[in-house]
Amino acid sequence: PVNLKGRSLLTLKDFTPQEIQYLLDLSRDLKVKKRNGGKEKLLEGKNIVLLFDKTSTRTRCAFEVAALDEGAHVTFLGTNDSQIGKKESLEDTAKVLGRFYDGMEYRGFKQEVVELLAKHAGVPVWNGLTDLYHPTQILADLLTITEHLMKPLNKVKLSYVGDARNNMGNSLMIGAAKMGMDFRAVAPKELFPSEELVAEMRDVAKATGGKITLTEDIAEGVKDVDVIYTDVWVSMGEEAEFEARIKQLLPYQVNMNMLKMTGNPDVIFMHCLPAFHDIETKVGREIHEKFGLKEMEVTDEVFKSKHSVVFDEAENRMHTIKAVMVATL
Ligand code: CP
Ligand code: NVA
Repeated sequence: PVNLKGRSLLTLKDFTPQEIQYLLDLSRDLKVKKRNGGKEKLLEGKNIVLLFDKTSTRTRCAFEVAALDEGAHVTFLGTNDSQIGKKESLEDTAKVLGRFYDGMEYRGFKQEVVELLAKHAGVPVWNGLTDLYHPTQILADLLTITEHLMKPLNKVKLSYVGDARNNMGNSLMIGAAKMGMDFRAVAPKELFPSEELVAEMRDVAKATGGKITLTEDIAEGVKDVDVIYTDVWVSMGEEAEFEARIKQLLPYQVNMNMLKMTGNPDVIFMHCLPAFHDIETKVGREIHEKFGLKEMEVTDEVFKSKHSVVFDEAENRMHTIKAVMVATL
């Protein structure tokens, strides 16, 4: 039987397919419990600290609501709210917070930071997004896929289109390999995931029956898939790259034509969000002014179409993060 008590979630690389499936099953149970107004508090008396060095809507709120639903207390610390990294080292901070709290979430820049925290905290540490990985997002994505497709994950074909070497490209490839999926990274060569990670995940896929394809060719990459997934072209911290990325990725924009190219009338569209699909945001207006674009990685038409499951996906962040806390605490 699976037992995740005391474990950190730094990347899904560290988890077996059985452990991932266990978290998805638990997420579904907790989702049903919430819908039914279940009163049992599984995290009663626990204290959770949330460290954010980058901004967030979903991840922060998912941790807060999930914790409070289950009777835990949370402390939120943004970049300038503590001594961390300025007057006090990561190691010392982790040791102190580990004495106060039962679990710790970290979102920030370097993967090494979340790993260092986990090494010294003495309590589970959960990665809420780093430059390399976004594992809690993948759990939500896998749950959403199973809810919408009514078939086992090892029968699912997914194309991730766009910046395939960012945290989402990396993590989706890992999740897909672990669960035996047919994963395609559809991107210009320069934005393929690192050869090292691809080799590692191809090894994993060998054992699970999964498949990993990297291609620049959109027609080949999206043919027959069940899911088209994309993410922003410019991740947090890479804002200087806008112009170059737009040039590289404009041909890879997810639009109705791309959905048609799958040949699958029931293809679903996914995105971790936030998405740039119109200009009704501060950054959206800036991009529009500077580059004349009204939408980037996905058209407004696709985003709002019947194919799009992005808000179910967003909701599932909460249920899956709850499962991670319940399982590891
Ligand atoms: N998908 C995601 O992580 O969203 P936030 O940046 O709002 O947390
Ligand atoms: N790749 C994006 C994901 C946001 C949830 C970023 O890192 O900004």
